[in-house]
Amino acid sequence: MTGSVIIGTGSCLPKRILTNHELEKMVDTSDEWITTRTGIRERRIAVRGEETSKLAAVAANNALAMAGVAPEEIGLIILATISPDMVMPSCACLVQKEIGATNAFAFDLNAACSGFVYALEVADRYIMKDPDMKALVIGAETLSARTNWQDRNTCVLFGDGAGACVVAGGDDGQGVLASQMYSDGKFWHLLSLAGAPSLNTDLAKAETSGAGIQMAGPDVFKLAVRSLEDAVTSLLKREGRSIEEIDLVIPHQANIRILKSMGERLRVPFEKIYTTIHKYGNTSAASVPVALDEANREGRLNRGDLLLLCVFGGGFTWGSALVRW
Ligand code: ACO
Repeated sequence: MTGSVIIGTGSCLPKRILTNHELEKMVDTSDEWITTRTGIRERRIAVRGEETSKLAAVAANNALAMAGVAPEEIGLIILATISPDMVMPSCACLVQKEIGATNAFAFDLNAACSGFVYALEVADRYIMKDPDMKALVIGAETLSARTNWQDRNTCVLFGDGAGACVVAGGDDGQGVLASQMYSDGKFWHLLSLAGAPSLNTDLAKAETSGAGIQMAGPDVFKLAVRSLEDAVTSLLKREGRSIEEIDLVIPHQANIRILKSMGERLRVPFEKIYTTIHKYGNTSAASVPVALDEANREGRLNRGDLLLLCVFGGGFTWGSALVRW
């Protein structure tokens, strides 16, 4: 066995679109500022009935359908999120119930925007130990319920959504070939979200919500670019591979300027960096699996392609993974 293979992908985005022009009426901002500083044009906002676990369950069912795997065949569910429906039970357990994955053990994982790649790494290790196991790896968020809609520094950035993958043991050189994760808690104060999670509300209620995400944007920006470059360079060096071998980069979608700077530093042509930020904003742990699913369904991923997943988020947490499709 060479690594865990992604045998199905799925995603689910809320129906409600919130455009930059609508945000102009909510805070002192402009479509021009948001587009040029971030690349975001619109984002999706969950309403009642589209809580994190609900979006995650739909994404999971879509991934199971693509994989041709029944829910009962799943042995493990890892759900990466910083916006669970509640503290207990975990969102992963709610998804397990919702989709009928009666033979799975399930838990949430908090690594902020890096959560999906962390979760893939954990699932990969379980599967290496038990190659018959099939896992659901999910990234799902409804950060709109934890956003301070009066804070223009942050409220323009985030969106809601969920993405999922079915992962199984495989060989033939396919699958997760290598990965490396990092954390550094000393910068926690540059990006934080305090307070107990709550059930998602509708946008009207969220507008009056409290502290929300606190972020020192420019500091986070610089650290994100540097850390992504370091993570990718180290992994490629360790694996004896060159950046030219990469067919598609699927990064966390935080800011188009972060992705462009990263691409320039790594000498990756921008066409090789898959982006969804313009239509979904920063969906935290959901951004990589949503992008992966869209790239997959658009036919951008061919058998044998070498994918590079790279992430950066609160904690700080960051890392990268090489996946042979
Ligand atoms: N509309 C208009 N003006 C704004 C807005 C807005 N929405 N937000 C901030 N401004 C103003 C600021 O007040 C500031 O005004 P001033 O010069 O009068 O003080 C000016 O615009 C410039 O602000 P900066 O913060 O310097 O703008 P910057 O170019 O750095 O862009 C941004 C800000 C988009 C937040 C950027 O720093 C960024 O993307 N940072 C990284 C975000 C990220 O990667 N987060 C990590 C993942 S999130 C997670 O883990 C949950």
